[in-house]
Amino acid sequence: MEDRKAQLREEFNEWADAGRGEGMRKGHWDMTVQTIEKMELAGDETVLDLGCGNGWAVREMAKLLPDGKALGIDISEKMIEEAREKSENTDNIEFYVASADELPFDDNSVHHILSAESFYYYPELEPVVEELHRILTSGGTVWCLVDLYKENRYSMTWPEKLDVPVHALGEPEYREVFEQGGFKITGQERVVDRRPIDEERFKPGWGTPTFKDYKEYKSLGSLLTVARKTFSES
Ligand SMILES: C[S@@+](CC[C@H](N)C(=O)[O-])C[C@H]1O[C@@H](n2cnc3c(N)ncnc32)[C@H](O)[C@@H]1O
Repeated sequence: MEDRKAQLREEFNEWADAGRGEGMRKGHWDMTVQTIEKMELAGDETVLDLGCGNGWAVREMAKLLPDGKALGIDISEKMIEEAREKSENTDNIEFYVASADELPFDDNSVHHILSAESFYYYPELEPVVEELHRILTSGGTVWCLVDLYKENRYSMTWPEKLDVPVHALGEPEYREVFEQGGFKITGQERVVDRRPIDEERFKPGWGTPTFKDYKEYKSLGSLLTVARKTFSES
């Protein structure tokens, strides 16, 4: 487990050095923004972005939290360095270098958790879900967004191409992971990018050699699973 975490840290430090934090902001933008809209934040909550990359979604959520706080954690210290640099002069944001299964937060201290395109990297999901349950308030929610899932056959070409191992789960398995950790599933849906697809800018990608494939891949959307912590803990 520690070896796998070291591998993830190294891999995503390389991504940060290569400027891929910004690439992810552009690529994940619309599905993540839609998810944040669905969270219907009241403005005074504490919200965590798990696997926050360069922190762009934390900054988006912070704008909606004038009386609350937006937290971000990432296993890559270089991603967090960039996140902090990009968030100077913002007093309702905090970033931490941490692994998703060992979070630097008190029990029952976070109202909502967003995780965008990060969950499938965690070496073991059970301890992560347990940790999320620990830090959430009763009634708190997890918003888990993934574009790598079984029902999107195009994304099933990625695991063998990525330099780190990933979980290739499907919709029922995502529900089970949270249910087994004591959560109630309150929703599961596909979130489709609302931005127009421009054929002139198309480049062949993993699993999408043609524009037709790419359009079909995009039409399937990202899988959003919403899980709620349903009982009070003493
Ligand atoms: C594909 S990126 C997505 C980043 C960001 N959520 C976004 O949408 O731009 C996945 C992120 O998850 C982080 N990550 C991977 N494994 C992690 C772990 N075990 N704990 C915390 N973060 C992790 C990586 O360092 C990386 O920044």
